[in-house]
Amino acid sequence: MTGGTIEPFDAVDVIRAKRDGGVVPEKALRWMVDAYTRGYVSDAQMASFAMAIFQRGMERDEIRVLTDAMIASGERMSFQSLGKKTVDKHSTGGVGDKITLPLAPLVAVFGVAVPQLSGRGLGHTGGTLDKLESIPGWRAALSNEEMFAQMQSDVGAVICAAGSGLAPADKKLYALRDVTGTVEAIPLIASSIMSKKIAEGTDALVLDVKFGSGAFMQDIDRARELARTMVALGTDSGVATTALLTDMNVPLGLAIGNANEVRESVEILAGGGPADVRELTVALAREMLSLAGQPDADVEAALDDGRAMDSWKAMIRAQDGDPDAPLATARETHVVTAPVDGVVSQMDALPFGIAAWRLGAGRARAEDPVVFEAGIDLHAKPGDRVAAGQPLFTLSAADEARFPRALEALEGAWAIGDDAPETSPIVRERITA
Ligand code: URA
Repeated sequence: MTGGTIEPFDAVDVIRAKRDGGVVPEKALRWMVDAYTRGYVSDAQMASFAMAIFQRGMERDEIRVLTDAMIASGERMSFQSLGKKTVDKHSTGGVGDKITLPLAPLVAVFGVAVPQLSGRGLGHTGGTLDKLESIPGWRAALSNEEMFAQMQSDVGAVICAAGSGLAPADKKLYALRDVTGTVEAIPLIASSIMSKKIAEGTDALVLDVKFGSGAFMQDIDRARELARTMVALGTDSGVATTALLTDMNVPLGLAIGNANEVRESVEILAGGGPADVRELTVALAREMLSLAGQPDADVEAALDDGRAMDSWKAMIRAQDGDPDAPLATARETHVVTAPVDGVVSQMDALPFGIAAWRLGAGRARAEDPVVFEAGIDLHAKPGDRVAAGQPLFTLSAADEARFPRALEALEGAWAIGDDAPETSPIVRERITA
């Protein structure tokens, strides 16, 4: 009881029901989320419930109710009065994944509004806001009114921080999962991501669900299950949702960090950049524009003829950033060279992500700052032929004391052999309702 109110359920009963493999009844599940958000259910009880979900899973209907309860914990935005279609993208996160940066302004070229509410990085996967904050002056915090105005204007695309009013239950639960080993559960990931996206009010959503060593889901079967669960949640809530299953075994592109990922994004917007980054940007843009009713939009032309670059500059300026200002460069660098002649046969995404994080590109605690110039620049990727002594990658940091632990993470993470490894397309499958 709090303040004389009689609570209709007991948290321990709800925990036991899930612990023993049962289905939690709808009203009890809604109450659990609401009571946790209000502070009546404790962190210890919710952590125990999250672990029970991790171990026992949830039925589709329970996941739907959980998602709905998290949406109901906060505000719901609406872009209905914009007079434009809205379409968003969410990536489950990976190493070197900077795709949101070129993608949002590229899609906006076609008159579609992109409400990209993003987060900061925790652990080895970088955060879109951290990358953009390496642009001098750029502002992540926008009011709902500012966001709406930017989407309605010719700029069309917004990348900004999700306000605290959106799915506060998820904010609290995600922080708890992060410190209790309960992040990698499909019902919890799906409800966490989709509660925020549905509450955001987008008309359509494309999910980039990653599998492989640098992703939440190591194997494609689990990634497929996560994708199907999220596509069903979006579709049932009236958000046109599709997903692409994409390979995250190798870092995406050549830059891992913050400022260097912005540089690589600008190369893509100028019609160049690494082939894998361009391939994924184009595939996701086509998917988003199809959902917005423009399946034939020529997105490659918009990258090649300067329209996407103009759109990027307008988006950055609208949030007080200077798109032409020089970006931070590292004080200290350390180059790793090829020990022998051969072909790069392996570059494992996860250790490269961990190494970049140890260099200062990511944070260990939510309140830590990131070092914009820290990170890794790859000079070769799997399949490339190299000669002994040729640079393979460069580590960058503000302080050379960061190098030994980063190099330790990279031991055994790459290899040079005689033959090129088998290649496969980045986009492996498309999942629809
Ligand atoms: N991103 C989220 O927002 N939630 C998760 O649970 C995992 C990734």
